[in-house]
Amino acid sequence: MKLSSYLQWQNLQHPVLTDNQTELWLRYAPSNNPDISGNKLLKLKYQLKQALQQKYPGLLTFGGAFSNHLVATAAAASENNLKSVGIVRGEDADLNNPTLALCQSYGMQLLRVSRSYYQGRHLPQVLQQLSTEFPGYLHIPEGGTCEAAVRGVSELDMRNTPNGPASLLICAVGSGGTIAGLIRGSEATAVLGIAVVKDQSLPDKIKQFLPADRNWPQWQLRQALHQPRYGRFDQQLWQFCQSFAEQGVQLEPVYTGKALYSVFELIKAGEIPKGSRLSFFHTGGLQGLKGLAYRGLIQTADLK
Ligand SMILES: Cc1ncc(COP(=O)(O)O)c(C=O)c1O
Repeated sequence: MKLSSYLQWQNLQHPVLTDNQTELWLRYAPSNNPDISGNKLLKLKYQLKQALQQKYPGLLTFGGAFSNHLVATAAAASENNLKSVGIVRGEDADLNNPTLALCQSYGMQLLRVSRSYYQGRHLPQVLQQLSTEFPGYLHIPEGGTCEAAVRGVSELDMRNTPNGPASLLICAVGSGGTIAGLIRGSEATAVLGIAVVKDQSLPDKIKQFLPADRNWPQWQLRQALHQPRYGRFDQQLWQFCQSFAEQGVQLEPVYTGKALYSVFELIKAGEIPKGSRLSFFHTGGLQGLKGLAYRGLIQTADLK
C-alpha cells in the first residue's frame, strides 16, 4: 500500500483549551484514500496482508446500513484486487443510501439479512453457510475488531506529539478494538476511551486483547456524556463539530465529534487536569456525514 504524504498531527485551538491550559493534539493516521481513513487502515492492515499472502479470493464482513467499516473494507479490497462481500443488518436497508452505494461502487456485493440472522452472525452454522456461499473468503468481524486489528492500531505512535509526550491518549470506542490497540501501543501513557455505544460488555471485550500476564498502562472507559445513545446527536453537538471547520478540522457527530465533546466536558469539569497534553485519535468516519444528510439529520449545505 502506497501512503501519500498526510497531516499527522494538528494542534486544536479552542477557548476551553486555552482557559484550562490544556493542549489537544489531533492524531491522524496515514491513508491515501479518505474512505479508509482514521482507524480503518490500521485495523485492516494485517487482515489484508493475510488475505493477500494466503491468496484468499476476497473479504467478507458485516455492518449496519451506514457502517464506516463496510465502506473501508470495500475500498481496501478494491485497491488490492480482492473481491468483497458485505452482510448488511436489515432486509430493508436502503441500497441507494450513500454508504451502501459507495460500497457497491467499490465492487462490494451486499447481502441484506434480517436483524435476527445478523444477531446470529457468530453462530457456527451461519459462518458455515457463508463459507459455503463464498468459499475461501476471509471473514472479518463487525467493526473489523480482532487480534490482527488491535495489532495494527498498536503500531500508531499516539504518544509523541510534536510538542512532546502526551499525558493522555484518547479515542472514541465502538467495538473496542481501537482503544485496545492504543493501550497495547501506549507503553506507560494513560488511555481514555469515550464509549459512543451503550454496551455493558465493552470492558470485557477490550480486556480480551490485553493478556493478564502483562502490566498495562492505566486505562478508563467513560460513556459519552452528551447524547450517549449510539447514533444520537442534537444541534448543539453538530454545531460543536462544525465549529472546528475554520481550522480545517472535519468531525462527524457519531464517533469523533461526540467523543471530543465529552473530552471538552471533562476538561471543563476539571476531570482532565489543567496542564494536560492530550492526544486524540481522529478515527475518520467522515463518509457517514453524507448518510446523515441523506436521512435529513443534517443539512446538505453543511457538508462543505
Ligand atoms: C469513525 C469511527 N471512530 C471510532 C470507531 C470505534 O472503533 P472501535 O470499533 O474499534 O472501538 C469506529 C468504529 O469502527 C468508527 O467508525
